[in-house]
Amino acid sequence: MVEYKDYISVEDYNELRSSVKWIRVNPKRAKKALDNSYHKIIAYMDENPVGMARIVSDGGYTYFITDVIVRPDCQGNHIGSHMIEELLNFIKEDVGENETVMVSLMAAFEREDFYERFGFHTRPYGNHGPGMSMWLSRLSSNEVVKS
Ligand SMILES: CC(C)(COP(=O)(O)OP(=O)(O)OC[C@H]1O[C@@H](n2cnc3c(N)ncnc32)[C@H](O)[C@@H]1OP(=O)(O)O)[C@@H](O)C(=O)NCCC(=O)NCCS
Repeated sequence: MVEYKDYISVEDYNELRSSVKWIRVNPKRAKKALDNSYHKIIAYMDENPVGMARIVSDGGYTYFITDVIVRPDCQGNHIGSHMIEELLNFIKEDVGENETVMVSLMAAFEREDFYERFGFHTRPYGNHGPGMSMWLSRLSSNEVVKS
């Protein structure tokens, strides 16, 4: 049975990231990321985290969904869908009458179809250009690289 909670340890967070071949986050930064999340949901099976998704937000206008992960051996069981539905329900509750907010995310390669079923538009869409991002890494005190 899958249970949903709002807590995950830094180590488990990095394990989930590793399970889908994403880079591990420096523990200090990972703790900050988890502590400062606006809302998060973690799927547990037998007390082991098998999935997560979280929202980063200013609490006003912008809601950014990130770290949507389901461990490969648990994928295809609607855990990912359940977590996205829960995050969207949370945001809906947060939005009052006659208010409009922006909910966005950066889909991983070829994950667009998964998100479109919840109402997300693949950009470019209307007057919205494609999303943009970059990695920024400090290699030494005086060397920062972008990739
Ligand atoms: C993307 C991911 C979160 C989906 O989680 P999941 O629990 O396996 O997905 P679900 O079981 O809820 O899938 C729901 C539906 O979406 C479909 N779906 C799942 N992944 C899909 C994909 N990559 N592309 C298109 N459809 C997909 C499923 O077939 C299923 O369809 P159905 O309802 O007709 O059966 C998961 O595959 C994952 O963690 N992938 C690796 C990390 C990643 O890419 N995260 C997204 C970053 S933006």
